Amino acid sequence: MKKLFSLIVLLIVVSQSLKADEGMWLPALISQRIGDMQAKGFKLTAEDIYSINKASLKDAVVLFGSGCTGELVSDQGLLFTNHHCGYGYIQRHSSVEHDYLRDGFWAMNSSEELPNNGLTVSFLEYMEDVTDKVLSGYNSSMNEKQRDSLIKVNSNRLTKQAIAKGKGLNANVEALFYGNQYFLFVFKVFRDVRLVGAPPSSIGKFGGDTDNWMWPRHTGDFSIFRIYADKNNEPAAYSKDNVPYKPKKFFKISRSGIKEGDFTFVYGCPGSTKEYVTSDEVSYIANISDPKKIALRSQRLDIQKKYMSKDQAVRIQYSSKNASVANAWKKWQGEEKGIKKMKTIDSKKEYEKRFKEWALGNRYNGVLEKLEKLYAEIKPYFFAYEYYTETIRTIELLQLASNVATSLKNKRGVETVVENFFKDYYQPIDEEIFVAMVNSFNNNIDEEFKPQFLKDKLSEYGSVEKWKDNLFSNSLFINKEKVLTLKEKDLDVVLKDPAYEMFEAFQSWYNETLRPTINRLNSEIRVAYRDYMQGQMDFEKNKQFYPDANLTLRVAYGNIKGYSPADAIYYKPISTLKGIIEKDNPDIFDYNIPQKLRDIYAKGGYEEQPVCFLATNHTTGGNSGSPVLDANGNLIGINFDRVWEGTMSDIVYDPEICRNISLDVRYVLFNIEHIGGAGYLLKEMVFAD
Ligand code: ARG
Ligand code: ASP
Repeated sequence: MKKLFSLIVLLIVVSQSLKADEGMWLPALISQRIGDMQAKGFKLTAEDIYSINKASLKDAVVLFGSGCTGELVSDQGLLFTNHHCGYGYIQRHSSVEHDYLRDGFWAMNSSEELPNNGLTVSFLEYMEDVTDKVLSGYNSSMNEKQRDSLIKVNSNRLTKQAIAKGKGLNANVEALFYGNQYFLFVFKVFRDVRLVGAPPSSIGKFGGDTDNWMWPRHTGDFSIFRIYADKNNEPAAYSKDNVPYKPKKFFKISRSGIKEGDFTFVYGCPGSTKEYVTSDEVSYIANISDPKKIALRSQRLDIQKKYMSKDQAVRIQYSSKNASVANAWKKWQGEEKGIKKMKTIDSKKEYEKRFKEWALGNRYNGVLEKLEKLYAEIKPYFFAYEYYTETIRTIELLQLASNVATSLKNKRGVETVVENFFKDYYQPIDEEIFVAMVNSFNNNIDEEFKPQFLKDKLSEYGSVEKWKDNLFSNSLFINKEKVLTLKEKDLDVVLKDPAYEMFEAFQSWYNETLRPTINRLNSEIRVAYRDYMQGQMDFEKNKQFYPDANLTLRVAYGNIKGYSPADAIYYKPISTLKGIIEKDNPDIFDYNIPQKLRDIYAKGGYEEQPVCFLATNHTTGGNSGSPVLDANGNLIGINFDRVWEGTMSDIVYDPEICRNISLDVRYVLFNIEHIGGAGYLLKEMVFAD
């Protein structure tokens, strides 16, 4: 009996502790994990990962733009990130004459590098726990509103003080653990970042959306940029007088190869995870939100693809838009499946039952019941909101109308908005999407939630099709030349346009019918989650918690490892050029490789050229472009994806099946040399072996 009892205790302790390799850890607190990292093979120290006293690995990692990661690979500001992270910029430089998306782009010297207006890279200077400072002045008699405004005032003071200390600094105070902890993040932001190289999409996006989120994978998903600084090595706006930035640290590159079991870690900026939410929230995601959004996106993707396959110009116009619609669409499919397969709703319910029993005698009593009640209330509103964003808000013409109106109201010219819009606009796609999306909205939103405007228009025109015909023939927004002539004095005309009228009617409906309730309930949910989060940490005293991802710098570690996606299948963790040749098919767009690659392969000797590899590092969106490092901190790869069966790792991590996918750095070097003919770039890199 005693034995059985201790076995049960042991089981509970084990099940409550972190699953192997789960976690996205704050670099400043990495000393708490360093023992485990070293036990798993890491050879360096916590100070090597993050230090404010000396150059450390963190100084070679950047937030690239506002949703990806990049890493420095030379003392000349050379930077690697993913092809899909540079995609929008590569596309902006592309035209039918210079199709850099299709053909690739390689600067043969610094004068050929291309500037990218609006692109920034941010280096983390330091991060600091400022919980006490942020809450200074707080007392328990304050209500939430007072607490929020106190936090705002204190945070503003802290960020102002921080950015006054140097040039090009930016600072944020971020809430961690739902506001149980606050950290100050101070960045140095560089604004002159130039495109140096990108492989053709037939390499950089090889496998396209067919292989996206999949293994075996053979995508050469990288692009190369260079950071420029002023003469003092400080951030500056683009200028031809700027010089390559000299980083405090850059990664050495390892070419000595990897094998299953090797230690790896990923240093980057994961965007968003929800590891600590309730079973109700998980159930909403897996049973309602994901399936509905998947169905809506399937419709849009089919419409876009139909026109893209007919015309190269349309394909270029919609390639970036199509990829971003497809990306979440596929991820949600894996997430829904993964949550159901892991029975996460049941296991969360079981956990909640135990939590409630434990909470009976303490201050967390009732917190879960409160969340359950709030969740039931917010669900229909939130569903209508999500449905609105995935339908009406995807009609491009309405977006243009709204953007133009905003520019005119703010007394700004409309030229940039209009030029950017029409460069990538194909009206037949938008018309078909209009009909599909308005119909879906009408068929899926409860009568009581529907905007009166929608009901009126449907009775006026009799069908969505007729409404669409009328709108597209009467709106001035379909005519680029006319839109370009609009001035402030024309605001009245714009506000009466049927496209603007529709945008405005739906937006007001959202603002008046949904938003106030969603905001009110969300702030109550936020407070309840703050308690529940702290409660979970008190409930499981022995577990080390990591905060949900929020685009702040994190370290995830694990090892190179294959997986078994289903009975009788085992996926090996390393793919090679041989696999690209096996997939090669000139008749299938996603698998049609450049002739040059075929020729190189035909010469022999490259069968074993590594291309991608799998590991158990816990990553998410935003980790794209992150450096993947070996036990010595040398660069072995660039993270770019996860396997779709494991995308529920944003909610629940399964060590058996959650894998990140990285590009082997040796395939990057192969492409630079053999496909790009830009071997000169290798001279500025430093190789560890
Ligand atoms: N799934 C990856 C990520 O979430 C890559 C996306 C880009 N590639 C694509 N085929 N759409 O960013
Ligand atoms: N592909 C993702 C990104 O762009 C990474 C992921 O979701 O694993 O950040």
